[in-house]
Amino acid sequence: METGIRRHRRLRRSESIRALVRETELTPSHLVYPIFVEAGLAGRQPIEPMPGQFRLGLDIVAEEAKELRRLGIPAVLLFGIPDTKDESGSAAWRPNGVVQEAIRRMKDANPDLVAIGDVCLCEYTTHGHCGVLAPDGSVDNDRTLPLLAQMAVSLAEAGCDIIAPSDMMDGRVAAIRAALDSAGFSQVAILSYAAKFASAFYGPFRVAADSAPAFGDRRGYQMDPANVRMAIDEVLTDEAEGADMVMVKPALPYLDVIRAVRERTELPLAAYNVSGEYAMLLAAAERGWIDRERAVHEALTAIRRAGADIIITYHAKEWAKARC
Ligand code: PBG
Repeated sequence: METGIRRHRRLRRSESIRALVRETELTPSHLVYPIFVEAGLAGRQPIEPMPGQFRLGLDIVAEEAKELRRLGIPAVLLFGIPDTKDESGSAAWRPNGVVQEAIRRMKDANPDLVAIGDVCLCEYTTHGHCGVLAPDGSVDNDRTLPLLAQMAVSLAEAGCDIIAPSDMMDGRVAAIRAALDSAGFSQVAILSYAAKFASAFYGPFRVAADSAPAFGDRRGYQMDPANVRMAIDEVLTDEAEGADMVMVKPALPYLDVIRAVRERTELPLAAYNVSGEYAMLLAAAERGWIDRERAVHEALTAIRRAGADIIITYHAKEWAKARC
């Protein structure tokens, strides 16, 4: 018998040995569950392109917060579907807005829950873009900043722990930080969607959140999928503006970007396993083409292995349930 060869299989002989040498751990404490709350809705309404995900009415968000506690999932990322939209998205900063109310109810039911508020105007504007429009139809960066800041302060007033701007305007982290501080919310953290790509994988989300742009696309403000150095540049800018954590989004088609960013910042790094990634996996699993539970575990592990500390994922509840 040949004895000189490396016997890699020695460390794969049993689950105990495999666990001993496992390099990447996945625990529910790293997961964030995205939630869609719809004004005026009672109960839950299925989101067609995201089987197993629902828009929630305010009447059931407290129950949801308790379920997350049972499952050990520490945090939610909240999106709102308001009852009215306008040109500037003013329903986003109403004191009794749908997300503001959801935060209050969820924190009441589960005070340990970390509430992360998505800050962006696309769910609240009639045109579906992430900021206010300039006369030429482009998004006006500098006129959008004070509106984002106003939304952030309103969410903080409702009890939001972390503000997560996803609009991709330049200077939003600095504008939001300054507004939070002057409103007395210096303790509220900012998780910036620093490297957010103009991705086809957001399709199901735009149905879920009713936030598709009425004309054009988001390539004038979200990043070109071809770029990785630019992602690092975005991250360093947001860090300099005062971000406490940064994000790469989407996750699975951008694992190299997660790795590159991990090597250039000491800030906690989040990755968003987005709606299209969820929909693809579910569609294959529904056809019996892949094993859903194993595929979910493998996908989430890969995102952690690439360097993400935190994973925002629609799979959070099912993964945590399978583990219980
Ligand atoms: C808002 C926003 C989007 C997502 C998160 N925040 C959609 C977009 O930019 O069009 C996508 C999340 C997902 O696909 O799961 N701007």
